[in-house]
Amino acid sequence: METKVLQPTEAALAEAAELLRAGRLVAFPTETVYGLGADALNADAVRAIFAAKGRPADNPLIVHIWDRSQLDALCEPTETALRLMDRFWPGPLTVLCRKKQAVPEVVTAGLDTVGMRMPSHPVARAMLKAAGVPVAAPSANLSTRPSPTTAAHVLEDMDGRIPLILDGGACDYGVESTVLDASGTVPVILRPGAVTREMVAGLVGACEVADSVMRPLKEGEVAPSPGMRHRHYAPKGRLTIYRGSAEAVAQAIRQAYDAEENAVILALDAHIPMYGSRRTLSMGATLLDAAHHLFAGLREADHRGYTRLLAEAVSEEAVGLAVMNRMARAAAFDVEDV
Ligand code: TXA
Ligand code: MG
Repeated sequence: METKVLQPTEAALAEAAELLRAGRLVAFPTETVYGLGADALNADAVRAIFAAKGRPADNPLIVHIWDRSQLDALCEPTETALRLMDRFWPGPLTVLCRKKQAVPEVVTAGLDTVGMRMPSHPVARAMLKAAGVPVAAPSANLSTRPSPTTAAHVLEDMDGRIPLILDGGACDYGVESTVLDASGTVPVILRPGAVTREMVAGLVGACEVADSVMRPLKEGEVAPSPGMRHRHYAPKGRLTIYRGSAEAVAQAIRQAYDAEENAVILALDAHIPMYGSRRTLSMGATLLDAAHHLFAGLREADHRGYTRLLAEAVSEEAVGLAVMNRMARAAAFDVEDV
């Protein structure tokens, strides 16, 4: 099939809406990463998402809406969930809610909760509104690849597999939404994102982070968020993360680099001079920059054919926790404390 990439004009949005209502797949920009959408109420359409991505069927999808009036037919949010939606929607927060019958099992991989998200990206909102149906959408990458933050990344993975990609430019945040379980008294972050623990706690008093966020699951352990179980975000080259003081990290990375043929260093701007003339890819200046550059940087390293990636750890505060959660997985937990 031919995959069209269109600027989000009125006509393109109408075409996207038409495709979605007909049970076809459309990739679209959000403020986090690009999504691969299908009508969430059409089980066959949702199955096509799993096929296009090569995604394991036990990994549930997030359902995207543009208006709160859509919630009622789909799920039963708790009081806490509603407060979080009031404060952080539209935006990069997914709230798990008890699902209603209308949501097909294939969307939630048989779980009794459904992840609900209202994106803030104007193209996503316009498309969701035009489609008029809730849209199930994972990140629009092939399973195991870094999430796409530009339309070109989506095309790289999905060319020939889907009819349409809406091109909304580069995504602002660059890491996927925060996935939050708000079913108990204290909300729990299952996947960190740009809505941080500090922000959630500031609103509702307390917020926990699932301890599987920064470590591999143990043999036989049940993942609170099934996606955390699978290999993820992987570049083609082997990635190692170095954590410690800036000087110790730079020293360890220089040493590792000099022992390799074809390595590249992922570093914050302020540290790049410490690597002299060695090849570097910038992670930007701030934690938000690091989030924005992370997946694009991993894909860029692949394009340039680097076989060894050496990355500086970032602080695990605020959105840094999301960056480190993704980096640690991309590195298959090869994180060295120096
Ligand atoms: O920012 C985002 O969330 C992007 C954009 C497109 O909205 N979407 C996204 O979807 O990242 P995906 O499928 O790549 O990641 C969804 C994560 C997975 O780790 C999945 O296991 C988890 O959310 N998840 C979804 N529904 C869940 C549920 N009912 N219970 C627990 N975890 C759930
Ligand atoms: Mg994903």
